[in-house]
Parts: sequence; structure tokens; C-alpha cells
Amino acid sequence: MKQIYFDNAATTAVDPKVLEAMLPYFQEHFGNASSLHSYGQTAQGAVDEARDKVANYLKCKSQEIIFTAGATESNNLVIQGIVNYLSQNNKSLHIITSKIEHPSVLEVFRFLEKQKLAEVSYLDVDQFGLISIEKLKKTIKSNTVLVSIMYANNEMGAIQPIQQVGELIKKVRTERGAKSLPLYFHVDAVQGLNYLDCEVDTLGADALSASGHKIHGPKGIGFLYLRAGVKVRPVNYGGHHEYNLRPGTLNVPAIVGLGKAVELVKNYKNKNVIKIKKIKEALINDLKKIDNIRFNGPENGCQLPNIINVSFLKAEGESILMMLDLAGIAISTGSACSSGSLEPSPILTAMGIKPEWSHGSVRVSLSKFNSLPEVKVFVQELKIAIAKLRKMAP
Ligand SMILES: Cc1ncc(COP(=O)(O)O)c(C=O)c1O
Repeated sequence: MKQIYFDNAATTAVDPKVLEAMLPYFQEHFGNASSLHSYGQTAQGAVDEARDKVANYLKCKSQEIIFTAGATESNNLVIQGIVNYLSQNNKSLHIITSKIEHPSVLEVFRFLEKQKLAEVSYLDVDQFGLISIEKLKKTIKSNTVLVSIMYANNEMGAIQPIQQVGELIKKVRTERGAKSLPLYFHVDAVQGLNYLDCEVDTLGADALSASGHKIHGPKGIGFLYLRAGVKVRPVNYGGHHEYNLRPGTLNVPAIVGLGKAVELVKNYKNKNVIKIKKIKEALINDLKKIDNIRFNGPENGCQLPNIINVSFLKAEGESILMMLDLAGIAISTGSACSSGSLEPSPILTAMGIKPEWSHGSVRVSLSKFNSLPEVKVFVQELKIAIAKLRKMAP
């Protein structure tokens, strides 16, 4: 049975060119990048090169890139780091995020709120999953120090108006003046890095998180872009690695792999986007022929080219996923099965989507390694699954 992998928002296959770049750093060049001898210097050289590649893509300085173990760590470092640093000298801080962030952002905000380290505002989204700039403007207060908004949502692909947020924050900062509290803008760019413009000055971002395994790089590696001058208190303490912000022996093979993966994104982004858009279009056209379905998320330009979120009436998302898995096809669902009861996806709920639709939602996420013929097989198997499930539905 030929396998079809349509779950690329969860993780991606390592690109063979990435693997090839990494391999020498496991055995031949295994040195510790902190060592002064030539083993160490070779490793350090490879780390420097990877850092330059990431900085080149983001159009920032290499010293503004901090390697981490993934975006979860990057998000924790910047959000906790900013609040912990500023709370040393300020009593009441206010921070803003949206209701549809990844748990690695949302849970950090909830933790800081619970610890009474900051007051938090969670922005609503509209029926397409988009935040409102007007509402954000009204939510910013004189003690707001951080706004954290994801570039694109992992569940239904909504691309947020990041540039507009960046402009608004710059404006507020200018109005506040130099003597007031700082106001920083953090972007979780995990799902956008592959497909969207990530130049930090264009976005107006002071911090940006990303992850290797979503861009055909290795797992357990990511980075945080932190604009020069943004002060954070580290989460972990130890050695002097990564500008004293992230201690621990550098994972050289993974860093090399991440650097290569980012370089490939930069060089082939346009070509990959064209290919993936074609597959997505074919998929949407075929899906439209199934009755009682709805597409979730924004239309056209405001959705990632690789994500489709679609709901089927009278067919549970989990059951569709299981049946497709038996047919060798991997997709995903946003619903979580907790203690026997099916909870609708919080993201779809925040968008105002009714439970009868959100229970039947699945996410299909594509990559450059997918092809048009896979669409036919997928839709054929999906139709069989939906027909069976609807027959069994009460
Ligand atoms: C939007 C978003 N942010 C953060 C993360 C966490 O990334 P990592 O797996 O590198 O910790 C993910 C992973 O699914 C994600 O989709």
C-alpha cells in the first residue's frame, strides 16, 4: 500500500539535502563548539555558518539569532524572559496575545497570569480566524509591554495581518517616548517560515520563533530571533552559550540541519508555493463535490498555501482520521479526545463554528514532497470513509 503523508503542519520529512549536510557532524566533526582545539573550532565554524543562513533569510544580524531546542522553548524564552526582566522594576505589566495561539504561547501567558506576573488580554478572532487591528489598538494600555501574535495558525492556516500589527506597535512606541515602558512585538512564525515573507524589519517584529521540523529540518532544534536591545531574563542558567541566554552544549548536527533547511526555504520558496498551491486547488475542487461540507479559515490570500481545514456533517473527525490511516493516509484533526468525551477544537470554537461542524473537522497539510496524483487517491478514500460514517451516524 502506498503511503500518503498529508500532515505536514504536524511535522515534515527531513529533506535529503539537510540530512547530507548534518551527517559529518555526528562522527567526523563531532567536536563541542565551545572547545578551543580544532575539533571545537570546526564545529563552531559550522554553527556560525548556520546562524548566518538564518540571519540572511530574516535579514537580521547573526548575533540576533539564538538557537533553541524548538519553537516551544523559543516562545517560553521570549515571553517569560521579557516579563521576568521587566517585572524586576515594574509592578503592573500588561501583555496581549490571541485566543488561537499555539499552546506553547497560550499556556505561557496563562502561567504568567496565574502567577500574577502580568495582566493578560486574549484577543478574539472573527469567523475566519483573523484578529482585528482596531481591537488590538483599543486593547493596548500604557503598561502593555508585549504583544505576541502568531504569523499563521497551525490548525486552519489563517495568516494574521502581522505587518499591520508591527506598524501599530511602532506607532504606539513612538508616541510613548523613550522614558516609558518598552513595548515589544513577538511573532510565532513556525507555520509561516516555509511560505511567507519573514524579513523581520518588514514585519516590524522584535522577536520571532521558528522550528526546524516544520521546514524539512530535524526535530529538537529551533531558533529565536531577538532584536538587539530587547532585554530578556533567561529561563535556564548554566554556561555562557548563546549570548548567555540559552545555556547548554550546542546541538551542532541539528543546527547545521536547521541552517540548511532555512537556506533551502529561501532558495526554493516561490517554486514550492506554486507547486503546493496547485495541489491545494485540485484538492479543494474535488472536496467541493462532497455534500454537507464546509471549509474553515480565511479564503484565498489570507490562508497558508499548504493548509486546508474542512468539516463534514455527521462524520467525526477522529473516525475519518482512523479510517484514512487504515488506507495508508495521514491527516490530522483539531479535536482532542479527553476522558472519553470529544471536545471541539478551541480554535474553531473561537471562530464561532458550531460543534456539529467542528466535531467533523479535519486538517490536511501539504508539503513540497506531495503530488497531484495523491489528491485523487486521498479523495477516493475520503469519500468511502465519509459514506460509511454517515451511514452509521444516528
Ligand atoms: C504555531 C506553532 N507554534 C509552536 C509550535 C511548537 O514547535 P516545536 O514543536 O518546535 O516546539 C508549533 C508546533 O506544532 C506550532 O505549530
